[in-house]
Amino acid sequence: MDCIVYPTSGLRGSISLAGDKSLSHRALLLAAMAEGTSKIENFLLAGVTQPMLNAMDQFEVKWELAGKTLVVHGKGMGSWRDAERVIDCGNSATTIRLLAGAMAANHCAGILDGSEGLRRRPMDRIVEPMQKMGINIHSTEGHAPLTLQPTKSRIRGIEYELPVASAQVKTCLILSALTADRPSTFIEPGPSRDHTERMLSGMGAQIMSDVIEGNGTKKFRVQVAPLKRPLKPISMHLPSDISSAAFFIVAGLITPGSEIIINNIGLNPTRAGLLEVLQKMNGIIATENITEQSGETMGDLIVNSSSLQATDVNGDVVVRMIDEFPILGIAAAFAEGETVVTQAEELRYKESDRIAMLCQELSNVGVDVTELNDGFRIRGQRRVRGGDVDAHGDHRLAMAFMVAGLAAENPIRVRGAEVVQESLPEFIPLMRSLGAEIICME
Ligand code: S3P
Repeated sequence: MDCIVYPTSGLRGSISLAGDKSLSHRALLLAAMAEGTSKIENFLLAGVTQPMLNAMDQFEVKWELAGKTLVVHGKGMGSWRDAERVIDCGNSATTIRLLAGAMAANHCAGILDGSEGLRRRPMDRIVEPMQKMGINIHSTEGHAPLTLQPTKSRIRGIEYELPVASAQVKTCLILSALTADRPSTFIEPGPSRDHTERMLSGMGAQIMSDVIEGNGTKKFRVQVAPLKRPLKPISMHLPSDISSAAFFIVAGLITPGSEIIINNIGLNPTRAGLLEVLQKMNGIIATENITEQSGETMGDLIVNSSSLQATDVNGDVVVRMIDEFPILGIAAAFAEGETVVTQAEELRYKESDRIAMLCQELSNVGVDVTELNDGFRIRGQRRVRGGDVDAHGDHRLAMAFMVAGLAAENPIRVRGAEVVQESLPEFIPLMRSLGAEIICME
């Protein structure tokens, strides 16, 4: 599907977005490991979460979805049946990496695979430490398909330092450690999202997080004790996804005459890096009605059009906004001055090589951009010419360039825009409800 987005004068209105993707994955998976019935409200049903739901059928975990309310009937650790058919994880790296850890903890056998795109993503980052824990897991030359067989002996608790900060790897290892023979320690170079630790603590697991400081460096440590009693079921209304809100926030900032209210967004500090960066760029973003539920903070965002200034992005904030670089690139193009992103090489291992593809497509719409090994430089001129771009099968690139079309000098056509279904099926109707003019054709 191609979508053409036309320049618009002012976006106005109040919107509510689907539930957070990371929290939806974790709530479903942990509820399936708990003993008892869990109720998860505002669950995200989209391309990325469907494979995890489908996998539950293979493990014979019962669930029902009514609207956005998901009920999961967990029977406790070790109750999952082996998967008889290959588990198709689609395009979802969260599904494959988290499921691997959960299957290991449940002593459950199966083969995990996915799309061509997923097969390109690195899996050695979970397989190597899992093998150190004595888990019988094998990859196909560092990639999916992954094969898991239960081991006769118990999983070994280990101390392991992750070479890159990754919440997917950390979560996979935390889950594996839940049925290990002794406590485990995992150390990361950056503060990756901590939803798993918060949710598991609320379910009765013993997880401790702290920061180790020394020699001018900071490391982020998680200690996991093996479960002594069954996980308690979850009852939670999930906040809406800040990574989805990011597109509406930047749309409001760059489109003159806009005021947008975005309700009930997750504001966990390990996810909210983009807000800090946009505020540093002079973005007018207010937060209101802050509440907390099950260890997660949420609140409403009020966004007004702003004259953005360039900034540098590096260090800790990179991992706290790891999914937001495509839309940051658009904000930087509409800012004044040079924005420099560094220490963000991980972006090359996402749904696409987000450094290369973002730079290529920004330059296709007339933006002055230079690709760096670990980031990019954008010389923003407060305007973007417009033109044609390709989504490269990456939902966040598709949405970022559709947002750019709202404030460009000429329309922007996004090829392959159907990929927005992966994480935010309501993206186009919600944008239209704010006044955006978008025409799509098959
Ligand atoms: C996620 C972690 C991040 C992020 C992804 C979701 C998660 O990936 O990019 O969209 O839910 O744990 P990495 O762990 O690979 O950084």
